[in-house]
Amino acid sequence: MIKIKSPGRVNLIGEHTDYTGGHVMPFAIDLDTSVKGGKNDCIDVYSKAFNKREKFEIDELEKEDDWTDHIKGVYSILKEEGYDVGGIKAKFEGDLPIGSGLSASASFELAVMYLLDELYDLGISRKEMALLCQKVENEYIGVSCGIMDQFSIALGKKGKAMHIDTDTLECEYVGIPEELRMVVFHTGVKRELKSSEYNDRREEVEEAMRSLEKESSKDVNLKDLEQLSEMERKRLGYIVRENDRVLEAKEALEEDDLEKLGEILTEAHEDIAENYEASCEELDFLVEKSNEHGALGARLTGAGWGGAAIALWKGEGVDDFAEQVFNDYKENFSREDAEYYIVKASEGVRKAGE
Ligand code: GLA
Repeated sequence: MIKIKSPGRVNLIGEHTDYTGGHVMPFAIDLDTSVKGGKNDCIDVYSKAFNKREKFEIDELEKEDDWTDHIKGVYSILKEEGYDVGGIKAKFEGDLPIGSGLSASASFELAVMYLLDELYDLGISRKEMALLCQKVENEYIGVSCGIMDQFSIALGKKGKAMHIDTDTLECEYVGIPEELRMVVFHTGVKRELKSSEYNDRREEVEEAMRSLEKESSKDVNLKDLEQLSEMERKRLGYIVRENDRVLEAKEALEEDDLEKLGEILTEAHEDIAENYEASCEELDFLVEKSNEHGALGARLTGAGWGGAAIALWKGEGVDDFAEQVFNDYKENFSREDAEYYIVKASEGVRKAGE
């Protein structure tokens, strides 16, 4: 039996840029999916979150629209790629909340893939794992997500944010200073990528890029935008500005200019809310209240339309700050699943204890 820990992720900045070959800056967090498992003839799995045990054969990989799809998807893609994998008996648990915009599905899939890699000596690199798990989402689950979540969960490093160029997959780690405290507020509005406007937005933006004959949003400039329809200009314009903001945020972080970093985050929120229309009342409220209570800055994180917001705080007093914002939220919205977490950047998927 071995135990694997697979983190969730939070995106500091660079939202909806990863499916346009743009810049992102996420980090893996200290909330995990954990799985304890060993080799077995069939697939025999238990999930604590769903309190369910399921048993199926390795060639029984039809989708059933439940949590086991994420296991079947990993098997299916690995087999398609020619890997020789056997069964598992495994138990899944952990403290990473499901449906909160912290990438629980990518975390779960990477946990399964890492476990299989360890048990059956598949020799898959971390980068390859990220790409294969993205394939699981794109081709098996049916969500056209980008690479950000899988990449940060596979390659995260303790205390570091990751500047990823999603066009070249080059990654540079940027240290997060101790005094920068990060709070994630979960709105309690469950969001499923499948049912959100995510795929629609992606199509709109891809269409705009095609008409400009650009492969990466990094190569789109403000002049190019003039050729687009008003709606396309609004959507792609946001992405072009967001790419710039990621680079500015990276610089601010490198220079320890946390005030500047905070301002960039809040500006990013205003832009995504107005021009990408990916926010909602709850997220806007959390951003506004965070700033009112003295945050350096705040923005929605993840796909939006619910899910979570991140607020940055400097030094002491983060617990009181988080509590105040959360209380204001609870007074205004009755969302049972709302929660907050003070997170730290952590290592990517790994064997427990490593
Ligand atoms: C989801 C997707 C990511 C990314 C974000 C938005 O988390 O899985 O690939 O597109 O939304 O930035």
